[in-house]
Amino acid sequence: MKILVTGGAGYIGSHAVEILKNSGHDVTVLDDCSTGHVDSLPPTVRFVQGSLLDSDMVSRALKGCEAVMHFAGKSLVGESVEKPDLYRKVNVDGTKVLLEQMNVLGIKKIVFSSSAATYGEPESSPISETAQCAPTNPYGETKLAIERELASAALTQQMAAVSLRYFNVAGALQTDRGWLAERHDPETHLIPNALRATSDSPLRIFGRDWDTEDGTCVRDYVHIIDLIDAHMRALQYLTPSEHHVFNIGSGTGYSVAQVVASVSRVKGSTLPTVDAPRRAGDPAVLVANIDKAEMLLNWRPVRNLNQMVEDTFKAS
Ligand code: UD1
Repeated sequence: MKILVTGGAGYIGSHAVEILKNSGHDVTVLDDCSTGHVDSLPPTVRFVQGSLLDSDMVSRALKGCEAVMHFAGKSLVGESVEKPDLYRKVNVDGTKVLLEQMNVLGIKKIVFSSSAATYGEPESSPISETAQCAPTNPYGETKLAIERELASAALTQQMAAVSLRYFNVAGALQTDRGWLAERHDPETHLIPNALRATSDSPLRIFGRDWDTEDGTCVRDYVHIIDLIDAHMRALQYLTPSEHHVFNIGSGTGYSVAQVVASVSRVKGSTLPTVDAPRRAGDPAVLVANIDKAEMLLNWRPVRNLNQMVEDTFKAS
C-alpha cells in the first residue's frame, strides 16, 4: 500500500517507516524536521520536508497515497503548558489541514498517534477506552481535539480512522543501518534519562511520596516494535465512516523504582539517583486496560520492560 507517514523522521515515526518498508509498503514521509532526524530514514523512502500547516506541501506529500499514519506533532507535556497556542496550532490546526487535503484527494484511511494523556487523572486503574477523558495539560487536550476531528471526518467525509492511545513507549529497533534511537532534545523520558545518569548527573526521581506500593509513580511501558505492530493491525482494521479508539500499552504497571532496578541490572551497576519534588501534571498511576486491542486488533505486546531497557541501552 502507498502510505504517507507524517512525522516519519521522529522517534516513533521512523520506526513505523522502517517496519512499513520491511513489510513491502511504499512509504512517503512528511516531516518539518523541527525535532526529527532525516538520517533516521532509509534511503529508498520518498521524503517531503514541510509543515502540516502548509496545505500545498501536504497535498504534494499525499499525492498517490492510499492511507496516512499520522505521527507529526508537538509531544512534550511540560512545553505544552508553557506554549498552549503553539500546541493547538501545530497539532490541531495541522491535522485539520491534513484532513482537508485528504478529502480533496479522496484519501480515506488514517491511523493516528494519540496518547493516554487524553485521560488526565484516571478515576480507576487499569484504564479502559470508555473512561472519561479529562486531560490535565494542553498536550492531552490537543490529542483529544484531534480524535474529535477524526470522529467528525468519519461522519462527514467517510473517513476510516483509528486513534491509538499510547501509554509509555520505549525501546528501539536494530536496522541494517544500525539502531534507530530515541533522540529527543531535551530528553524528558524516564528510561533514556536513567540510562545516561552518572554520579555527577544522577537521575532525578520525581516524588517518593505517591500513593503507590513503593511511593514512586507507576506507568505502563510498551516496546516500540509492539506499538508499531499495533499500527499495522489498525491499518487492516480501518472501516469506512468509523472512528475507533484503542489503548496501546502492556497492561502492566512498573514503578519508577522498578525501572531504575531494571536499568541498574542492564548496566551492571547501581544507578545514581537523587530524590526530587513531584513533577507538575504527573498522575500517580497510569496503566492501560488493553482488552479491546487484544480482542479487536488481535494484538498482544510480547516484549517486556527488560527488553525495552536493553534495546534502548544498545541504541544509545
Ligand atoms: C507523558 C505523557 C504521555 C506522553 C509522554 C510524551 C501523561 C500522563 N503522559 O508520559 O502521554 O506520550 O509524556 O512526552 O501526560 N520520571 C522521573 N525522572 C525523570 C523522568 C521521568 O522520575 O527524569 C518519572 C515521571 O515522573 C513519571 C515516569 O518517570 O512518573 C515516566 O515519565 P516520562 O517518561 O516522562 O513519561 P510520562 O510523563 O509518563
